[in-house]
Amino acid sequence: MKTILLVIVSLSQLFALLPSSAETLKGVYSPYFTIGAALGAYAFANPESPVGAIAVREFSSVTAENEMKPERLQPREGEFRWDVADRFVEFGERNGMKIIGHCLVWHSQTPRWFFQKEGGKADRDTLVRRMKAHIHAVVGRYKGRVHGWDVVNEAFDDAGTLRYSPWRDGIGDDFIELAFRFAHEADPDAELYYNDFNMFRRGKREGVVRMVRDFKAKGVHIDAVGLQTHTRLSGPPVAEYEATIEALAAAGVKAMITELDVSVLPSPWGHTAEIMSSQEYRAKYDPWKDGNLPHEKQQELTRRYRDLFAMFLRHADAIDRVTFWGVCDRTSWLNNYPVRGRTDYPLLFDRSYRPKPCYDALIALPSLHKTSPGVGNLP
Ligand code: G3I
Repeated sequence: MKTILLVIVSLSQLFALLPSSAETLKGVYSPYFTIGAALGAYAFANPESPVGAIAVREFSSVTAENEMKPERLQPREGEFRWDVADRFVEFGERNGMKIIGHCLVWHSQTPRWFFQKEGGKADRDTLVRRMKAHIHAVVGRYKGRVHGWDVVNEAFDDAGTLRYSPWRDGIGDDFIELAFRFAHEADPDAELYYNDFNMFRRGKREGVVRMVRDFKAKGVHIDAVGLQTHTRLSGPPVAEYEATIEALAAAGVKAMITELDVSVLPSPWGHTAEIMSSQEYRAKYDPWKDGNLPHEKQQELTRRYRDLFAMFLRHADAIDRVTFWGVCDRTSWLNNYPVRGRTDYPLLFDRSYRPKPCYDALIALPSLHKTSPGVGNLP
């Protein structure tokens, strides 16, 4: 009885925090594209999670931030751990969401055993066999339930050539194509995506477009390319993302904004660095650690989100989904990258789960767009 009362009290407290308006992100953007969010287990495996409740109300697609990566699903060869990923998929189904699987083939968060063999590096045949077994097991388990998969993550460098990856090192340049073929075999109805950061860069844009055209010519199934879109207040320029979306549409695939956030903190190196590199903590990199973002920064953040979404709306025909990399500032990965232990403000909900001014601006934007397209680009 006591437990039931506690649950009712905490849920009513939570609903008091949620926006009072009848409008939701997924509602106002439904004529244009799907709106999604990445969630950790703290949100989807806990029925009392405030983040989970916001996700159910605001988003119609969900991506597992970490729980479907190879290190979580197959920590040792042939030893699959499905329990947390199963709960993620059940959460998405229970709430009528499009479920996105992230990710099958990546150089990071993949256990070393994949690439090793007694006496040294695994040979091509072993790697291909392990890749196929992993993809068939994972995609096969969620066949018909996961809407689309990030099949290969982050394979290109900024110049548009293939970067170092132990997959490429052991298999060769065709590792991407093989991964797409295996995923399509395992679930012919699932959508398949290539996903990368720095997609605003011309070199990477051209490299990925070349790959898409090559796949189309060979009959390799690919539905869309994900632009991660981890951005900052000061850049990269919206027009560069726009050019990538246009180039992808011309190559015959949809674009997806797959990991959107806007860091407001000073960067040790601007916005061009390798996404996984990290830096020592210094107070000058963490100016608003009391949890209060100054008003003018809040406004800058709102303008940045509005400019990005005004462009997304203009290209709604070419964009299938916009997914935020998290729901609220408290649990964003950016509090720990590229410097551990900072206080960043990159998302639409604050540390107390309240909607921020950028949320209100994004709710208002579609009706402004209907009457005067491009309005978000005004200063
Ligand atoms: O789960 C452990 C926990 O047991 C341990 O106590 C704690 C101590 O640090 O670490 C926890 O694991 C962390 C994990 O996130 C879950 O929070 C890892 O250290 C941390 O490295 C990991 O970071 C994730 C990162 O990928 C790793 O590559 C971020 O949450 C996740 O947001 C981020 O997501 C990537 C996308 O997959 C691909 N695109 C870039 C994006 C951002 O880097």
